[in-house]
Amino acid sequence: MLLEGQIVLIAGGGRGVGRATALLCAEEGAQVVIVARTQEQVQETVQAVKGLGHQAAGLPCDVADYAAVARLVDKTLERFGRLDVLVNCAGIIQPVTPVWRADPAQWAYNLAVNLTGAFHLTRAVLPPMMAARRGRIIHVSSGAARSVVEGWSAYCAAKAGLDHFVRVVAAEVADYGVAVYSVYPGIVDTTMQAEIRSASEADFPPLARFQKYHADGWLRPPEEPAQLILYLAALADPARSGEVFYLDDLPVRQEVSQALGRPLIRGRGET
Ligand SMILES: NC(=O)c1ccc[n+]([C@@H]2O[C@H](COP(=O)([O-])OP(=O)(O)OC[C@H]3O[C@@H](n4cnc5c(N)ncnc54)[C@H](OP(=O)(O)O)[C@@H]3O)[C@@H](O)[C@H]2O)c1
Repeated sequence: MLLEGQIVLIAGGGRGVGRATALLCAEEGAQVVIVARTQEQVQETVQAVKGLGHQAAGLPCDVADYAAVARLVDKTLERFGRLDVLVNCAGIIQPVTPVWRADPAQWAYNLAVNLTGAFHLTRAVLPPMMAARRGRIIHVSSGAARSVVEGWSAYCAAKAGLDHFVRVVAAEVADYGVAVYSVYPGIVDTTMQAEIRSASEADFPPLARFQKYHADGWLRPPEEPAQLILYLAALADPARSGEVFYLDDLPVRQEVSQALGRPLIRGRGET
C-alpha cells in the first residue's frame, strides 16, 4: 500500500475532491484527519473512512483562522505522533460577481481561505515536517490561476497567488526533505461547480459555457483528481517540488497512471 501507516491531514475533506482523496488515501493505508467548517460533513467523511476499516479523525476548523489551524495540527501530533502529508482542498468560489459589485468583506474572505488559509496550513505543518526531514504538501489550486474568468476576480487572484506561494515554499524547504506541489484538478463534479452554475449571467458572463460542460458530461468525478493527489503524496519525485500538476495535461495523466499502474478514470478527449 502506498501510504501504509502515514498520517494525512486533509483540509476540505468534508466533501468533493477532499472527501474522495480521504477515501483513496485510507484505502492506501493512511490514517486521515479530516478538516472543514461543517461538522456534519467532517463526521460523514470520518464515518465513510471508518466504514472501510481505517482510522480517521475529524477536526472542524476554518482555515482562515490561524489559531484554530495551529490547534488542529497540535491535536493531530498529540493523537498520531506525526504528520506525513498535508492535502489542502479547502476552497471557496464566492464572490461570483464583477469587481465593481463585489462585497469587500466577501472578497477579502475568499483570499483569507484560498490563499491565506494555504499559508496557515503550511505554516503550521512545516516545523514538525522539517524536524522530521520528511513531508509532502499538496495544495489544490485551479486553472483559474492562469485563465481570465470574468466574475471570479477573488478566486483567480487567490489561486494565482497560491501557485507562486508554492514555488517560494518549495525553494525555502528544499534542504529539509519536504516537497510541495500545486494541482489543477480540471472541472470536477462537486458542490463548487453546482454553485458556479447557480450564478446569474449578469454576475458571471461565462455561465452558459459552464452549464454546457455539465450538460455535455465533461465534469470529472472527484475520484480522478484524488488519484493525482495520491500520486503526489506517495510517489512523485521530490525534485519536482514547486511544480504545478495539471490533470488536463496528457503527460501528467500518463505519468500518474503509469506510476499507479492503472488508468485514470476518464480524461477529456480520451476514449
Ligand atoms: N470543482 C472544480 O471544478 C474545481 C476546479 C478547480 C479547482 N478546484 C479546487 O478544488 C478544491 C476542492 O473543491 P471542490 O470542488 O471539492 O469543492 P467543494 O465540494 O465545495 O469542497 C470544498 C471543501 O472545502 C471546505 N472549505 C471551504 N472553506 C473552508 C474553510 N474556510 N475552512 C475549512 N474548510 C473549508 C468545504 O467545507 P466547509 O464548507 O464545510 O468548510 C469543503 O469540504 C478547492 O480548492 C477548489 O478551488 C475545484
